Amino acid sequence: MQSKKIMVIFGTRPEATKMCTVVNALNKYPERFDVKVVVTGQHKEQLYQVLQNFNLKPDIDLGIMKENQSLSYVTSSAISGLDSVIQEDKPDFILVHGDTTTSFCGALVGFYHKIPVGHIEAGLRSYEKYSPWPEEVNRRLVDVVADILFAPTALSCENLIKEGYKKEQIYITGQTAIDAAMATYKEEYLFNEPELNKIDFENSRVITMTAHRRENYGEPMRQMFTAIRRIADNNPDVLIVYPVHLSPTVREMAYSTLSGHERILLLEPIDFVDMLNLQARSHFIMSDSGGLQEECVVFHKPLVLMRDTTERPEAIEAGAVYLAGTDESVIYDVSMKLLTDSNFYNQMATARNPFGDGKASERIAHILSQYFGFVDELPEEFL
Ligand code: UD1
Repeated sequence: MQSKKIMVIFGTRPEATKMCTVVNALNKYPERFDVKVVVTGQHKEQLYQVLQNFNLKPDIDLGIMKENQSLSYVTSSAISGLDSVIQEDKPDFILVHGDTTTSFCGALVGFYHKIPVGHIEAGLRSYEKYSPWPEEVNRRLVDVVADILFAPTALSCENLIKEGYKKEQIYITGQTAIDAAMATYKEEYLFNEPELNKIDFENSRVITMTAHRRENYGEPMRQMFTAIRRIADNNPDVLIVYPVHLSPTVREMAYSTLSGHERILLLEPIDFVDMLNLQARSHFIMSDSGGLQEECVVFHKPLVLMRDTTERPEAIEAGAVYLAGTDESVIYDVSMKLLTDSNFYNQMATARNPFGDGKASERIAHILSQYFGFVDELPEEFL
């Protein structure tokens, strides 16, 4: 049988971290799949860092990013760029991931060309239209358009069933983020960012933090950062490490409220391998990110989640993540509890990993092999 043309479309750093393992899994079967990686370039520097880590180069880069880009700009330029690429290449199948504007555009253009679409990380829901914004709605729109829904967990599968999707089009695969995290952690590790090699992880308690969400721009982010500064002020053995996202809005707030403190280390974005190895060596994590909620459980590190809702309630139910919102006093209090109450800390740190077993990417390659008739059997689901 002739190999099938699979177009893998992504555009931002988190999509790349969760898609590269899938690309590599598909590439193990060159007789089945002819894989083309198309990036919209919604992100530039942050995306290429990840691709390098996985030794991948995009076949096509639409290079759409510009400073302070609006959502409408990203959407319109990704749609017109992807339309030409898909028109020319005529893939047999399109794979998109998650909830970004790039994912939404890739799925929609695939649908316009009547090409089947697979949605990796389908079925996550906060059921709040504006939180995360615009990701909650992007994700639902991709699910509507997709033909195959790769749900990471039983809960995301249940969400889809409740919304009327048929079980025949849903496969529970586990999270590809877990595959990437497991493959990337190293016991002996020299960081690429020299500042990280200067940290005394034995004698200080490192809190790794990130913050970038659009719905937190402005007052919520100011409250988050004020709490963080107070934590640094009041704990002489704590070092807060914050690789600052390249968004100009985030950078302005981060540097104006957090710079100049001897126990807060502001860094340029660090690469994916550094980030995972930093998490593994941290005392705990503070973040508004989606992906870190999955990675922290691999390393048994508690996470204080600085947003109002999450589409990943599994980690909260398991006890690994604490949903703190963006109120300064709540963030401060729960972080202080983690620093002072060892029972509370240990309870969070020993929570089970509800997200995956490291085999999600391989399952996805297997499911696509079955879909195209290269094999008869489906893999066991992640349960
Ligand atoms: C996007 C995703 C979000 C994801 C996040 C990860 C959407 C709607 N949002 O949000 O789901 O969690 O990526 O980072 O798709 N920038 C650079 N260089 C880079 C990357 C970003 O300069 O390599 C700057 C640009 O000025 C850009 C700004 O960051 O205007 C914001 O990027 P954008 O992709 O619009 O939104 P994110 O907040 O990154």
